Amino acid sequence: MEKLVSLCKRKGFIFQSSGIYGGINGCWDFGPLGVELKKNVKDDWWYNFVQLRDDIVGLDASIIMHPDVWVASGHVEEFHDIVVDCKACKHRFRQDHLEGDTCPDCGGELTEPKAFNSMLRTRLGVSDDSAVETFLRPETCQSIFVDFKDVYSSSRVSVPFGIAQVGKSFRNEVNPRNFIFRSREFEQMEIEFFCRESEEEEWFDRWQADIWAWYLGVGLTESKLRWYEHPKESLAHYSKRTVDVEYEFPFGWGELQGLANRGTFDLTAHSKKSGKDLSFFDQPNNERFVPTVLEPSAGADRATLAILCDAYHEEEVKGEKRVVMRFHPKIAPIKAAVLPLVKKGGLAELAQDLEKKLRRKFNTYYDHGGAIGRRYRRMDEVGTPYCICVDFDTKEDGTVTVRDRDSMEQERIPMDEVAAFLEKRVGFDQQRD
Ligand code: GAP
Repeated sequence: MEKLVSLCKRKGFIFQSSGIYGGINGCWDFGPLGVELKKNVKDDWWYNFVQLRDDIVGLDASIIMHPDVWVASGHVEEFHDIVVDCKACKHRFRQDHLEGDTCPDCGGELTEPKAFNSMLRTRLGVSDDSAVETFLRPETCQSIFVDFKDVYSSSRVSVPFGIAQVGKSFRNEVNPRNFIFRSREFEQMEIEFFCRESEEEEWFDRWQADIWAWYLGVGLTESKLRWYEHPKESLAHYSKRTVDVEYEFPFGWGELQGLANRGTFDLTAHSKKSGKDLSFFDQPNNERFVPTVLEPSAGADRATLAILCDAYHEEEVKGEKRVVMRFHPKIAPIKAAVLPLVKKGGLAELAQDLEKKLRRKFNTYYDHGGAIGRRYRRMDEVGTPYCICVDFDTKEDGTVTVRDRDSMEQERIPMDEVAAFLEKRVGFDQQRD
């Protein structure tokens, strides 16, 4: 994990937020490569779950919502962690994260457990007396319930159908930890899928299969994934059944995403609190009912972290250590690097020309600094699947070499076929080899 965190900082994937001020706990910044990587994760998720499906539509709702939303949803009442404080060093811990009954940091005595609401408060409004106190959303899904009627009456959807949303959520986590695994500001990728109660089990099974397929599709190792079924007695207040996908991180198994059957809890609660009917009218059958909700709820940061952990490889090549990030090509931040063998002899200009053309379609990179072997290694370290080398033969016959990151094998192809070569290998429509 330490090696990965250091690579992420060194190569511009992820930095601590506000680093020059000493950092701020639980907040992270995605650098030039990290932003591309996480964007690819979110875009691939959207591609698979929204674009390719005719039963899911998208939404991008406001992060700040009416304060009553959080009363109706149960968050004001229920969104608590049970915490204890150390009487000596004053550190605070989640009770369920503790192994003994003394402070894990200094061995001091702990206070009695108390409830701590993990929503981040904010005030909306310009003057002190008229400002309204509300919260930054702790999950993206509530706006989906609140907008349920607006969405279904404005789109050509009918139950069963889903609404998907990707966006920021905020939680005042007691102990943010394990790099970006548990942060205070993070991104979720959530779907609320509305169906009839009689079909809930069938849809639950289908969702499990689709979720599993997505994690394999972004390149995670199957043996590092598993399902965890929540025991009935520890289910969240809204849930009839919840299963989680877990990934084996270097620090142990951790939740990547949940799949919950929320029943009719949310639509009913918001109908009651707002006084607006959120039932669904099935015109062909002349039937009105409150749909059951299945919720696949994933974390974009956790998926990105799992992808980073899975991709990290160290190996020995000709007596030298090589660090290589084996990202699936569709997730890799840079798809191809164009490298002139040497800077001289018109090769740099030829390579720059090619890179400029490829850039219109793919995220590419040009580099002429240092020996070609060192440049290949730099690209391996950031997971660039293909390096295209322009050499003296290119000037003669218009061909280039394409080097594969994983096998390190090279093949020669005509320069004007490079775009088609990449097209076949780096798009979201490409599944695992
Ligand atoms: N709407 C349901 C919901 O929010 P959750 O299990 O609390 O359920 C869903 O969160 C997903 O959001 C988690 O599986 C995880 O991937 C991500 N997530 C939750 N809290 C997080 C945190 N503090 N930091 C990073 N990701 C988090």
